[in-house]
Amino acid sequence: MALTDVSTSIDGLPPGPRLPVAAQTLLFGKYRHRYIPAMQRRYGDMFTLRIAPHARRLVLISRPEDIRTVFTGSTSVFHAGEGNAILGPIMGDHSVLLLDESEHMRVRQLLMPGFHGAALRGYRDLVTKLARDEVRSWPAGRAFRLHDRMSALTLEVILQVVFGVTDEHRLAQLRPTVARVVTINPIVMFGWFYPKLQRFWPWRQFADIQREFDRLLYAEIAERRRADLTDRSDVLSRLLAVSGDDGDGGLTDAELRDNLVTLLLAGHETTATALAWAGHELVRRPDLLRRAHQAADEGDDAYLEAVAKEAMRLRPVIYQVARRLKAPAEVGGYRLPAGVTVMPSIDLVQSDPAHHPDPDVFDPSRYLGAPLAANTWIPFGGGVRRCLGAGFSLMEATAILREMLLAHDLRPERARPERPKTRNITMAPARGTRVIAAPR
Ligand code: HEM
Repeated sequence: MALTDVSTSIDGLPPGPRLPVAAQTLLFGKYRHRYIPAMQRRYGDMFTLRIAPHARRLVLISRPEDIRTVFTGSTSVFHAGEGNAILGPIMGDHSVLLLDESEHMRVRQLLMPGFHGAALRGYRDLVTKLARDEVRSWPAGRAFRLHDRMSALTLEVILQVVFGVTDEHRLAQLRPTVARVVTINPIVMFGWFYPKLQRFWPWRQFADIQREFDRLLYAEIAERRRADLTDRSDVLSRLLAVSGDDGDGGLTDAELRDNLVTLLLAGHETTATALAWAGHELVRRPDLLRRAHQAADEGDDAYLEAVAKEAMRLRPVIYQVARRLKAPAEVGGYRLPAGVTVMPSIDLVQSDPAHHPDPDVFDPSRYLGAPLAANTWIPFGGGVRRCLGAGFSLMEATAILREMLLAHDLRPERARPERPKTRNITMAPARGTRVIAAPR
């Protein structure tokens, strides 16, 4: 299918393709890594797409100054939560991702204590231990999908470091349930649109799993509220330390449940995918792989963090963030009407040679000198909606890369790079980063 057709500007919005909405939806949904750059080449730094349902108008932007306008805009005009309403059936109405304005700020503030600097330092040892156990289990001399192993590991990190479940019996109950809950596919989502379907297979089964998961989560929350949390440093315990279920303004049980599911869904596959890409790039660059081994041996975490950051730039896990306008707003010289969704394009700004020389080259040294210009590296979005787990995920990725590099020499199964492939909202290496490991 041709990616573009006649240029047009409708309703005073930036120009964009006139392809049927169904075609634009498919291209944006499945082939955004090619479609979005093609649209920019054709229409420039601001363009409009029309996407199902209801021919929603999406205005993509990629100039740092326009991105800044959106990230710093009034939270009563630029709504982020509304656009995520589709996730309501799984995350719940109290999820920080789904809320806007003062409700959003309240929940976000109450989640913050789990993610500030001192808290992050407290998680590092357990993440390192889990990573060490995981990498030791990798096969020697036989190709495997690094992405799958990273998914298993980041799930374990959420269970033990975020939820704080370390009891083997409880973990054994949770693991299979969680693994099912995080596997969201279009069939599952169809059941969210039509709740009556939940009487029938396979939706009945999905609903049963979600109920079982909720039961386990509420049991964990109840137990933890009764426990002495003095020596506990997991995210849930930190949140409970500032919460009560008695209307004191802290997070209620239902709010905790919804936000634990949110952290699970927002933090698990994203970090695993970023690590799969980091591995994908490193194993194809023997010079950088050597440098990274040296960094791991010498405890040079700054370099390993730079590897993770560069993977997130070159291979964005999430391609754009969204803000739906509640009132007209000036962005990039256009007066955009209420109802439009403005989308800072992570992919376009991070691959722009004006901000990143030789943008197609994987080069972690970009992060070792002067800081990058504002709003040119935005894998975690920005403003008051910036990813709450950004620091957590960089700490986690650094620790995991270190343990991986300390334990193994790695090479790609095939030299040819893997294509990006859409997996729900993330963009992952199509073959899962197939690598061959040799113990060091
Ligand atoms: C490489 C890993 C990750 C990437 C690329 C990523 C990316 C993002 C992006 C793009 C957003 C939306 C920001 C915006 O709209 O401006 C977001 C929001 C969020 N992320 Fe992450 N994320 C990652 C890991 C994590 C982790 C590990 C956690 C928690 C454990 C997490 C929790 C959240 C939450 C709670 C929000 C919603 C924030 C709000 O609406 O106020 N993320 N993330």
